[in-house]
Amino acid sequence: MKKRIAIFASGSGSNAQKIMEYFKRNAEAEVVLVLTNNPQAYVLQRADNFEVPSHIFTRKEFYETDDVIRLLKNLQVDLIVLAGFLWLVPVSLLTAFPNRIINLHPALLPKYGGKGMYGDHVHKAVLAAKEEESGITIHFASDQFDEGEIIHQSKFKIEPDDNLEVVKFKGQQLEHQHFPKVIESLLKKMKS
Ligand code: GAR
Repeated sequence: MKKRIAIFASGSGSNAQKIMEYFKRNAEAEVVLVLTNNPQAYVLQRADNFEVPSHIFTRKEFYETDDVIRLLKNLQVDLIVLAGFLWLVPVSLLTAFPNRIINLHPALLPKYGGKGMYGDHVHKAVLAAKEEESGITIHFASDQFDEGEIIHQSKFKIEPDDNLEVVKFKGQQLEHQHFPKVIESLLKKMKS
């Protein structure tokens, strides 16, 4: 049976799109649900385009009820993918899906992680520190922002005149290229 993926995203969802594209015709897995905390998130449109069902939840539902867990369990989800999801995962969800929740971060953790370190904030901090390289990290989620065992990292070089847009673009290219493949290889290693 195909493995079943749920994607959490809070905004644009370009990574969610790449994952939906990759697994649209794939023997290993399929995307069965997109979830978001943000009713305006463009990821909802992208899910619609791929005919993937979506679910919008409130802060109260996410942190004070088991509704999201129940939904994921009913759909027999094997892997939860956080792709630009900005809320901390509650312990109840981590416990319900041990070692089955992974996150994407736009820097080389453990550097440039933690609360408030998301999206452009990360790239700006990397540039301000005059780093010569940056990259992406895919890691298991934990009850702290951007901690948890690292599964994959890839790097790019920062040239002296690279600005925010360039660094962001280089990172995004790596994310789109690697994230779906890392998900696939993780699923192949997972038992049932
Ligand atoms: C991605 O670059 C991802 O690494 C980052 O948000 C972006 C979402 O883009 N995640 C974080 O910063 C988490 N701390 P997308 O919505 O176009 O996929």
